[in-house]
Amino acid sequence: TWTPDNFVEMTVESLKKQVGNDKVVLGLSGGVDSTVAAVLLNKAIGKQLYCIFVNNGLLRKYEFENVLHQYEGMGLNVKGVDASARFLKALKGIEDPEEKRKTIGRVFIEVFDDEAHKIEDVTWLAQGTIYPDVIESVSVKGPSATIKSHHNVGGLPDFMKLKVVEPLNMLFKDEVRRVGASMGIDPELLGRHPFPGPGLAIRILGDITEEKVRILQEVDHIFISGLKSSGLYDKVWQAGAILLPINSVGVMGDERTYEKCVALRAVESTDGMTADWVNLPYEFLQKTSNEIINRVKGVNRVVYDISSKPPATIEWE
Ligand code: XMP
Repeated sequence: TWTPDNFVEMTVESLKKQVGNDKVVLGLSGGVDSTVAAVLLNKAIGKQLYCIFVNNGLLRKYEFENVLHQYEGMGLNVKGVDASARFLKALKGIEDPEEKRKTIGRVFIEVFDDEAHKIEDVTWLAQGTIYPDVIESVSVKGPSATIKSHHNVGGLPDFMKLKVVEPLNMLFKDEVRRVGASMGIDPELLGRHPFPGPGLAIRILGDITEEKVRILQEVDHIFISGLKSSGLYDKVWQAGAILLPINSVGVMGDERTYEKCVALRAVESTDGMTADWVNLPYEFLQKTSNEIINRVKGVNRVVYDISSKPPATIEWE
């Protein structure tokens, strides 16, 4: 029978055999999958594993610093690379969602490749690909055509001729979490919601600017902190805020305002392939909305997304 302990034991053994004395490079994202993959490999090959954690400037507020610190505390051989400016520059003026994904994917590969080249004689690329990623990336390539290009699968550039190792590619998300728990990874890290590779870029509808990223980080931070402090975070599969490309009229004191509108999204799901919007308590929504409008300059309206997948998707882009 499958148990997390058995899985760890068997996978560590087979990774040792597979990799031998070779060096492996892995991109950490701050998410559950890449973290569990890294800890498994660290158990198997220790310092032969080189982790790279890229800040694309589109992460949540404080995310890069906090997570990097946490990784170091876990004994991972990790290098943090702040490439925010490079990403923002490349994204300038781009409005089309797929164009955003492609740009972010391309710049990520450039940055990652630069870093990987600094590791002498690296021969393996490890990825935290899980089973649903494999399925969805196959269906994206199918005749029913482009749903969304998930750049964290099959994103291996030709010029990086590395062998690929994907220790989690037969597991579902809940199994990955159980494996992580059996290796002693912090439950808070394991319970983190999924977060898309292109990050806040696909939650800012329209073009991306530093100012919009900052606004959305503030809004998201209020929403997510609120979910945590209200004990709702773990009841939700994924949550986040979307910055809409419209201004609407409001009033503050005697003044008419004309400012940004944000949508909040929280869904229940088991694998992200289908999802239902979450019936968050009205009191919570009321408190969150007030806090956002009072504290985030430039936002005067908050709406809640009550669409399920399908036919809507979880992300708005
Ligand atoms: P959708 O919006 O397609 O999202 O319902 C399903 C799940 O996938 C995540 N997602 C992405 N993850 N790169 C990623 O790494 C992407 O381009 C991407 N697009 C969506 C989304 O956050 C949700 O968990």
